[in-house]
Amino acid sequence: MATPFHRVNGALFVEGVSATALAGAYGTPLYVYSRAALEAAYHAYVGGGPIKVHVAVKANSNIGVLGLFAKLGAGFDIVSGGELQRVLAAGGRARDVVFSGVGKSVAEMRMGIDVGVKCFNVESIPELERLNEIAGQMGAVAPISLRVNPDVDPKTHPYISTGLKDNKFGVAFEDALPTYRAAAGMKNLRVMGIDCHIGSQITSVEPYLDALDKVLDLVDEVEGAGIEIHHLDVGGGLGIDYGNGDVPPDRTEFVRAILAHIEKRKAPRKREVWFEPGRSLLGDAGIMLTTVEFLKPGAAKNFCIIDAGMNDLARPSMYQAYHAVETVEQPQGKSRTWDVVGPVCESGCWIGRDRELLLRQGDVLAVRSAGAYGFTMASNYNTRARPAELVVDGAKVHVVRERETIESLYAGEHLVE
Ligand code: LLP
Repeated sequence: MATPFHRVNGALFVEGVSATALAGAYGTPLYVYSRAALEAAYHAYVGGGPIKVHVAVKANSNIGVLGLFAKLGAGFDIVSGGELQRVLAAGGRARDVVFSGVGKSVAEMRMGIDVGVKCFNVESIPELERLNEIAGQMGAVAPISLRVNPDVDPKTHPYISTGLKDNKFGVAFEDALPTYRAAAGMKNLRVMGIDCHIGSQITSVEPYLDALDKVLDLVDEVEGAGIEIHHLDVGGGLGIDYGNGDVPPDRTEFVRAILAHIEKRKAPRKREVWFEPGRSLLGDAGIMLTTVEFLKPGAAKNFCIIDAGMNDLARPSMYQAYHAVETVEQPQGKSRTWDVVGPVCESGCWIGRDRELLLRQGDVLAVRSAGAYGFTMASNYNTRARPAELVVDGAKVHVVRERETIESLYAGEHLVE
């Protein structure tokens, strides 16, 4: 089969549907996901060995998309009660949900216990105490894992590195054993595992192996203290190829490398191995379509003004992230260097800089690798309605989210008498 995103006589297709036709029928800006691409990414993970994949819902929380993963038997990694509600609405099972996040509220803990999530990834002693108390009030025992901070450098953007000492996440390594002891002593908690997440858009296996070595040493200590560890949650973070030179390992090879590293330690008993990937399941599976509003060639810079802004895709302005930008059709002629910028009234509102493109007003552009942290980070800044989202499955198009209406943006607002 052709790859899910491919060209037919120069024109971009998503599976069996032309991108030009999608833009025409549904308008732009528009998020388009390929079912085949996201399923392939999931299968690439589970093809690496006996693991459990929990989709990081923060990367793409559309219930149509989550529902496809639920059908594949995936679990979910959530960081809020809202994400839990989405998983359940999508047909996901609470018993496959891992509840992460550094600041769970009382209401969120209650909800997690009430529906029976598989595990709470806990990040501090006060969080353990709060969870124990709430579980006690509810007459329940909450399953927990500690998120430890292995202090390794994932060599990624500082905003998305999470496993360094000076990041706010996890229990510091030196505090981990006493924290496990504290957890084991709490009547309404049951220790299940250990978990770490060192960052995102990581493009080599080494930081994972370094973190694993530390985590496995800690597991020995914890088990030495009589506390059993049933699963190792390796976190998420594997990067994707955005087309700017950083090429991550293949997903299957990545899983194999992690499992082989665990095997090498000859752990006394087989433990379950869990992953929480977001970007590497979804990033490549989506594009954002946008239309050229105006071309503004100039002495210093040529600007191409499109109908999608930093509110629709925040990653470039937020992390200086690179997303490949292509024309959906490929006209003949001479290209120029353009800054592809959005309509939001901020100089930071750009999608791509110094891109060699042949552009005409009205052309539709595809912004690639937008399936993860695209729509979920979109906002209504400048009172801009968020885009529609589609899932393409072969020749079929599913509208998994309608374009917002402007009225809906202020529907909950009230005039002052
Ligand atoms: N698990 C936990 C506890 C996390 O904090 C994250 C991401 C993941 C799993 C999934 O990581 P992934 O496999 O997607 O790298 N908005 C940023 C990315 C932030 C990631 C935060 N945590 C971006 O657009 O690059």
